[in-house]
Amino acid sequence: MSQMRIDILTLFPDTVNAVLHESILGRAADKGLVEISCVQIRDYTENKQCQVDDYPYGGGWGCVMMAQPLKSCLDSVMSTASDRHSRVIYLSPQGEPYTQETAKRLVRDYDHLVLVCGHYEGVDERFIEACVDEEISLGDFVLTGGEIAAMAVADSVCRLVPGVLSDEQCYVGESHWDGLLEYPQYTRPELWEGREVPPVLLNGDHEKVEKWRRKQQFLRTMEKRPDLFEKFVPADKDDQKLLEDAKKEAGRLTLTEPVSCRAATAEELPALLALLDEGKALLRERGIDQWQDGYPDESLLRADLARGELYAVRHGGELAGFFVLSTREEPWQEAISDGKWTPELPYATLHRSVVTEKYRGTGLSEKLLALAEREARALGAKALRTDTHKKNKAVLRLLRENGYRYRGNIVWPVEPGHDNMGQAFEKILKDRK
Ligand SMILES: C[S@@+](CC[C@H](N)C(=O)[O-])C[C@H]1O[C@@H](n2cnc3c(N)ncnc32)[C@H](O)[C@@H]1O
Repeated sequence: MSQMRIDILTLFPDTVNAVLHESILGRAADKGLVEISCVQIRDYTENKQCQVDDYPYGGGWGCVMMAQPLKSCLDSVMSTASDRHSRVIYLSPQGEPYTQETAKRLVRDYDHLVLVCGHYEGVDERFIEACVDEEISLGDFVLTGGEIAAMAVADSVCRLVPGVLSDEQCYVGESHWDGLLEYPQYTRPELWEGREVPPVLLNGDHEKVEKWRRKQQFLRTMEKRPDLFEKFVPADKDDQKLLEDAKKEAGRLTLTEPVSCRAATAEELPALLALLDEGKALLRERGIDQWQDGYPDESLLRADLARGELYAVRHGGELAGFFVLSTREEPWQEAISDGKWTPELPYATLHRSVVTEKYRGTGLSEKLLALAEREARALGAKALRTDTHKKNKAVLRLLRENGYRYRGNIVWPVEPGHDNMGQAFEKILKDRK
């Protein structure tokens, strides 16, 4: 097949030309990748008044476009396309609803599309019966004419023609490509009006970014277009696994408000202590021997509060978690048994942190880390250090996924009979762009 040619039969060629010969499609036409022409139907009338429409038989409102000018216009176009795989399409609210699949089919099977735009009350049915291969609708609503629909079809078909976009990747993976919506997109700055870019996108780990994006496709298709999601079939086993994870996640709360933090107040202490108990209970349930020997306790949290090191994390107005951040020297932190911290960098340490049960699995932990990093930067730190229990898989994964590097094992000063083996992590804090 040769390059894609599209002829648009219309009463308003200037309107259509103005749109389709701009920007990406205009450049594609200049490069000879596509050829888009508008043909004035009125030029093919056989009456002196160049009349294209007339009253409907049987009476009723408005006028109907006559078959003759349409057929003569079409014949003229087709006489120059005998070597092509042509498809005559009438844009109509009665047609098959247009989808990305239709666009893919048209670009795959034809190299010549004739898009017929009706106007007024539509076109004489006999023209449709005699000349039209298929009818396409832009949706279940009525436009005054077929031009907008024809432009939508021409645009969406042409951008799939090889070479029109810089790379196939520009459209593969976009919304509707494989029956899903696209993942959310972000650009600079990293922080805008209190809203963070998801940390996974900042770490340069392409595999993780790909997985995150795929999961986001599942999540937003489930949420925004359950009708599409019902029909979706995973591509392979990995896709199936991600889909199952996404389904589990979808059962959870989503963050709709900005997540913020500030130094906790004495009034908030009871709620924060309740959260601490929740955190200890969760570790116990998961069989992790961390925070099971009495540490950390109320007196420690009071001391954190008094030093201004205790931060309350909120989702909108609701308390969602806390963390403790300090820039004081940490003697035990120098006790890494088989590794070392990055030397000579001013650092802060992220200690006790908890996310309330309601917010687990919502991405709030990532946001808590990002807030701790922001506060650490504000305190002049160039690195953020933290530690967790070697069996605390959720936190280990969270730290790794958010750019923290393992620095070695660390021995905790715990009560006898409890596990004292922690793992140390550090993140070098880059300056924000
Ligand atoms: C006012 S409409 C005619 C509607 C027609 N009387 C009917 O009820 O089915 C005029 C022209 O706009 C175009 N048109 C209107 N709605 C459209 C849609 N949803 N999709 C594609 N074309 C549409 C068609 O070309 C149609 O001939």
